Amino acid sequence: MRFPTIEYMQWAKTFIEGDMQQIGGSGMPALEPHELELPGDDAIRLTSDGMYGSSSVRERLAALYQLEPAQIFPTEGTSLGNFLALAAVLDEGGDAVVETPVYTPLSDQVAAVSDRIDWVERPFEDGFELDPDRVAAAIRPDTRVVVVTNLHNPSGVQVPDEALLALAERAAKVGAYLLVDEAYRDFLFEDPPGCAARLAPNVISTGSLTKAYGLGHLRFGWVLGPEDVVHRASRINDYLGVLQPGPVASIGLRALDHLPRLRARCRRHLELTRPILRSFLETRSELDMVWPQSGPIAFPRLGDGSDTDELLRRLREEFRVVAVPGRFFRAPWGMRLSATAAPADLERGLSNLGSVLNGLVRT
Ligand SMILES: Cc1ncc(COP(=O)(O)O)c(C=O)c1O
Repeated sequence: MRFPTIEYMQWAKTFIEGDMQQIGGSGMPALEPHELELPGDDAIRLTSDGMYGSSSVRERLAALYQLEPAQIFPTEGTSLGNFLALAAVLDEGGDAVVETPVYTPLSDQVAAVSDRIDWVERPFEDGFELDPDRVAAAIRPDTRVVVVTNLHNPSGVQVPDEALLALAERAAKVGAYLLVDEAYRDFLFEDPPGCAARLAPNVISTGSLTKAYGLGHLRFGWVLGPEDVVHRASRINDYLGVLQPGPVASIGLRALDHLPRLRARCRRHLELTRPILRSFLETRSELDMVWPQSGPIAFPRLGDGSDTDELLRRLREEFRVVAVPGRFFRAPWGMRLSATAAPADLERGLSNLGSVLNGLVRT
């Protein structure tokens, strides 16, 4: 089967019931429409001002990321951006090198359009660092693309630009691309925003307004990269999204108008919640952790190396609190926790997790 069910997507969409408290979710609290201060009905267009992505969106993102409009293709979220970029570079077949632990909806997409995946470990023991030599060892003559996330999902660890450049150079030796999923990069609060696509001619970035700004349901994302890849992606999109919805383009542009304010909103939230998550992780002797320098997520593991599934099943059943099991990242020994919930909710959810951890010690 070319498109088997993406287990993590199905879990995230159906397993978490409305009244449950999430302590592993990756996006900031949903933005309310009034926070965008839309000036009136005419702020929202029902038509798109471009057949291959809104021209205004392409121009705005080009200015933001210091690229040419032809290097930009607007997509329905990072997810569609990843799929189109992968389909574009693997159109003639070929293999992929993919990081692990990995956000499996991304690696499932790679599996659907590549001939083979070679995995590159980002070991917990090395602070989830992405080692260019390790990646180089996985690259083979048929490798067409190397796929990584920055910030890393699930650990939240940043890959420095120098390491990305080293990866791009290693990939270029066999004519391969480097695809960097930057869904979490905005949590670095760079000004102006950075993107890997500027680093070298064989690098593609994907991103969106989903995570840092609470706009996951707007589905406003992008592919940034070499013109030929972007062009190919835009033609493959004729099988899928076809047109960028006008309302999405106009609301997304409005959000970009308000970027400094939305960033401040995100920053304020994390300044309150990251210390709560960090002190919980530091005080729980059952857990080992790598604390990321920025962003909302972390991926601790149980010190005895056991799977987190049973722990998280109890957390859900006993307290209706949900965190993301490591198996959705090909790393069953971990669990993704996050600082996206409101401070009081996060404290309560973590305290419930603490109770389940206490129970594990007793049994
Ligand atoms: C690494 C990564 N890429 C992409 C996505 C999906 O982002 P979007 O809503 O922009 O499609 C997620 C969401 O969890 C993610 O973690």
